[in-house]
Amino acid sequence: MRIVVGSDHAGLDLKDAVAEHLRASGYEVLDLGTHDRASTDYPDRAAAVAREVAASGDLGVICCGTGQGVAMAANKIAGVRAAVVSDCFSAAAARRHNDANVLCMGQRVIGQGLALHLVDTFLSASFEGGRHRRRVNKITALEG
Ligand code: RB5
Repeated sequence: MRIVVGSDHAGLDLKDAVAEHLRASGYEVLDLGTHDRASTDYPDRAAAVAREVAASGDLGVICCGTGQGVAMAANKIAGVRAAVVSDCFSAAAARRHNDANVLCMGQRVIGQGLALHLVDTFLSASFEGGRHRRRVNKITALEG
């Protein structure tokens, strides 16, 4: 499985740690940057990952200071369901119930150890379908 990752400058260190962790775990990683500490606008970085996820069907991980801005931007792209997560229950539920395809985290909010655990939890959970499919279809219908 390939995972698309990205961040702004405020999420750079966490994004790089996630990418390294994923590669070490055997995943193919497409890193769409940012790659340095120069200030960059989070909607641009989020849109790049979200468009790739929507086009490829891969899963994505996006980091910024809080995770909030990148999620807001990513969720503007049709086909993307981005979830801001900072606890294990939500990381699993976002996959199982919401069929989230992008995990968003804040480098200024959570520690690296927890973040990597959230990534593992998110990736190991599966969408349960059933009644959740009906509800996710209603989210998709809101895309117009
Ligand atoms: C950048 O300073 C910061 O605003 C951004 O990374 C993010 O937290 C926005 O939601």
